[in-house]
Amino acid sequence: MPILFDDERCTWALRSSGATYGLAVDEEGRLRHLYFGPPLPRLEDLARTDEISSPLGREHFFPWESPTGPNARYEYPEWGGMYYHEPCFKATLDDGVRDVRLVYEGHDTVGDEGTPELAITLRDPHYPLRIHLHFRLFEELDLLERYAVVENTGQEPITLEQVLSAAWHLPRGRDYRLTHLAGRFAAETQIQRENVSLGKKVLESRRGNTSHHANPFFAVDRGAATEDDGEVWFGALGWSGNWKIVVEHDAWGSLQVSGGINDFDFAWHLEGGETFETPSFVGGYTQGGFGQASRNLHRYARKHVLPHEGPRPVLYNSWEATYFDINEEVQGSLAEKAASLGVELFVVDDGWFGERNDDRRGLGDWWVNQEKFPRGLGPLIEKVHSLGMSFGLWVEPEMVNPDSDLYREHPDWVYHFPNRPRTESRNQLVLNLAKEEVRNHLFSVMDRLLTENQISFIKWDMNRPLSEPGWPEAPRERQREVWVRHTRGVYEILEGLRQRHPEVAFESCASGGGRVDLGILRYTDQVWTSDNTDPFDRLMIQEGCSMAYPARAMMCWVADPGFWAKNRTTSISYRFHSAMMGSLGIGTNLLKWSEEELEEAGKLVRRYKQVRDIVQEGDQYRLLSPREGETTAVQYVSEDMRTSVIFVFRNPHQFLDPSPTIYPRGLKEDSIYRVTVLEAPRSGEALMGRGIQVPLEGDLTSAMIELTQV
Ligand code: DGJ
Repeated sequence: MPILFDDERCTWALRSSGATYGLAVDEEGRLRHLYFGPPLPRLEDLARTDEISSPLGREHFFPWESPTGPNARYEYPEWGGMYYHEPCFKATLDDGVRDVRLVYEGHDTVGDEGTPELAITLRDPHYPLRIHLHFRLFEELDLLERYAVVENTGQEPITLEQVLSAAWHLPRGRDYRLTHLAGRFAAETQIQRENVSLGKKVLESRRGNTSHHANPFFAVDRGAATEDDGEVWFGALGWSGNWKIVVEHDAWGSLQVSGGINDFDFAWHLEGGETFETPSFVGGYTQGGFGQASRNLHRYARKHVLPHEGPRPVLYNSWEATYFDINEEVQGSLAEKAASLGVELFVVDDGWFGERNDDRRGLGDWWVNQEKFPRGLGPLIEKVHSLGMSFGLWVEPEMVNPDSDLYREHPDWVYHFPNRPRTESRNQLVLNLAKEEVRNHLFSVMDRLLTENQISFIKWDMNRPLSEPGWPEAPRERQREVWVRHTRGVYEILEGLRQRHPEVAFESCASGGGRVDLGILRYTDQVWTSDNTDPFDRLMIQEGCSMAYPARAMMCWVADPGFWAKNRTTSISYRFHSAMMGSLGIGTNLLKWSEEELEEAGKLVRRYKQVRDIVQEGDQYRLLSPREGETTAVQYVSEDMRTSVIFVFRNPHQFLDPSPTIYPRGLKEDSIYRVTVLEAPRSGEALMGRGIQVPLEGDLTSAMIELTQV
């Protein structure tokens, strides 16, 4: 049984193939965390709650130290009593009391085979407040998905001030190390690795979207884990609005990682009878290093999060080719070229609607621009279909330019505060999705677009964060709900569109990778990883993205060289190989490519299609990091371990370094594999043990190596 319960000790053990998670109710009725680590065979092996109160044991308890600090390890710590660390829950009750107590009320076990779910209910002994904690176990993936539901069972409102999804407690210890993702526009998801010192490290977004600057993912190890080996505790939060993950280490050695909706500028007015559900925070434990942590998250996303099954089609996008200067004729010519390369989905980016001739106008006016498409989109879509491709379109529904019909008609539809400026960014303002009429309007406009045109794919962009998040018409106690209501509004519209148009796939974009997280991936099939399409820069961005997100969801374009990294030239094959490590797209002006270049590109698209299932559906191994040394290598292995592909890149060549040797992973030791760069087949054991010498010379060169079981 994966979820064990000891009635007498009121203790649970959640057991997956490589981990155990233990929790129990103590003598005071408080829910305490017991254990998260390697598998424990017996429930009795879990410590008792009275053994974990103080690092020195009960008899040495110091009265001036908080007895309810993180050493008490409350499973879902509430702010009340002497709790001074990061709480998961903080509220003001109807009579003004701001001290919450939660005790165990009951539990239930539900869920499907392989993914059982434990739900534990806590209640306040005095006030009409319940919190239901959910633990969904993914037995094969060693992952636990957690979320909380707050229920106001009374008549009077409660003000929620902090409602995180979960707190993860690590074994008491020292020398912990944190891995997280930080960055900026054009340099998203850069891997950061640092020692965890005493105090708090807060990873967060306050921008109303996931943000380019930090990504809701963490991994903690004991200071020496590698890609292949070592204990790692890790997690990723499914939320695309303001979020935070707090890593808190205290001098008693306790380490707590809490995360969820950011409490910054947040308050939620919960009426009697209402519930508030947090986003889910998936967490895991592995002894297989950072690589295994990522592979578990990838499988989770592929099998339990992403809305459609893979693989994704090869896509062409017109943005970098034509920017706003688009029309039926040029898009048609690009479509012909794209089809000749084997592209399967042709996407028209920004510029097709309203008076959208530049980024100063048009957002909000989602009607087809008559000058650019006098016959509507129909003839272009027909042409794209006749070329054997499906058709996709760019939209940015949450936004409006002040120079638009929509804004002239509804200036009150944007977030704003009276007597304050409405700060524009990229000449646009953000529509207030907390307002039902705005959500209804956007849904019907998008629904009409999808109903009237044969569109298979929508790239949903968001090119600025929120500012002046005012909702003046709302009652004062509801005004800080906008942060959550905005994100829920986006999810609601996407969900509605998915239901009405189940065949349509979506991409989440926010000026590149500003909205990449497990929350949006429940509604969108892929993300735009970064606007930076330089293939060398992309190695780092994609490496970071792969810490948490699967290759299938990571959209990568082949683009023209020299724009993002000034004057850097790269070969066509290098650009393709870099982009073939995710979901392949082409985002270049193919009208300027020579016949020879087009022919080479066509060959590379065909090669991608041969390995696409392995890349998009297989297990990924980061063999050599672009951040270390002069070679990058990333391997993908099919789930049955019979086929594999490795992409190898030589960074600027230095110091007479010889050709790199690559040590593959994930092969069957006793199986024989044919390898494209070796004359004779070799056993998996020999390949993984002795490696493959890859003949790569010169700056920014690359190779694609295929391994097939004989
Ligand atoms: C930002 C996106 O990241 C780009 O790919 C492109 O779609 C532009 N927006 C269009 O305005």
